Amino acid sequence: MIHVKKAFVIGHPIKHSRSPLIHGSWIAEHGIAGSYQAIDVAPEHLPAFVERLRQGEFAGGNVTIPHKEAVFALCDSVDPLAKTIGAANTLVRQPDGRIHGFNTDYMGFLGNLDQNAPGWAQGLERAIVLGAGGAARAILVALREQGVPEIVLLNRTTEKAEALAKEIPGPFVPGALADYPNYAGAAGLVVNTTSIGMHDTRFDDLDLRLLPGTALVTDIVYVPLVTPLLADARALGLKTVDGLGMLLHQAIPGFEAWFGVRPAVTPALRAKVEATL
Ligand code: ATR
Repeated sequence: MIHVKKAFVIGHPIKHSRSPLIHGSWIAEHGIAGSYQAIDVAPEHLPAFVERLRQGEFAGGNVTIPHKEAVFALCDSVDPLAKTIGAANTLVRQPDGRIHGFNTDYMGFLGNLDQNAPGWAQGLERAIVLGAGGAARAILVALREQGVPEIVLLNRTTEKAEALAKEIPGPFVPGALADYPNYAGAAGLVVNTTSIGMHDTRFDDLDLRLLPGTALVTDIVYVPLVTPLLADARALGLKTVDGLGMLLHQAIPGFEAWFGVRPAVTPALRAKVEATL
């Protein structure tokens, strides 16, 4: 009998997740005897679900909103960077049944830039990160791990940027969005981690002309794919990378852990997922 390895994404709600499409495509591409399914798990059922994983029903899976923080307490071990980020989005069942949690968002961020802007970190002296919410945390850890010497963290609510810069060890300089002009001139990278860009929203006062002409602008918002920020950057001739690649790349480490094959983000996969946006 062929042993079918099973993986999942759990969330509540879960029906809009693109993860089944991504992982399902890789399962087919590599001819793996496996499955990947979206399962709606309400918060009160999370402990029982993790127990099913422990008992061997699944090889592992992804965890999304609202479980990314709650799942920590249920894991038997957690990666230190996931702890710093404050969220685990990937679970792997060890052969002895222990559940290990880690976070692949920061790898997804780096993988996306490596694929679409090769060499982006070479000689990079300063990055500006816009936003200090949950999504900013994985980006800050990613840039820190990459060795970026100065990471300026600007947020509408300055106190949140200050608190985050204090909480996460790293070369972080917190400030207000209004401080952007003071830092833009020497910033080789701008990352938007706020929700601005969704639903036709845009930054009121973020003059991209202040950036060096070699700067790279990237957004983690991927609906729409080309946010107003990216459109403005392109119009000025700046390099841009959209947020869809981060979603695709964050899926790689989990797939490799569950199914034993390291998959690739190909133009065909990207096109398939893009068609669903
Ligand atoms: P996520 O987990 O997706 O990061 P979040 O924790 O709610 O979501 O954080 C949203 C981020 O977008 C925050 O940095 C927020 O700024 P505040 O901390 O000041 O709230 C930012 N944000 C959302 N709407 C914004 C707006 N209209 N203008 C400026 N910043 C905004």
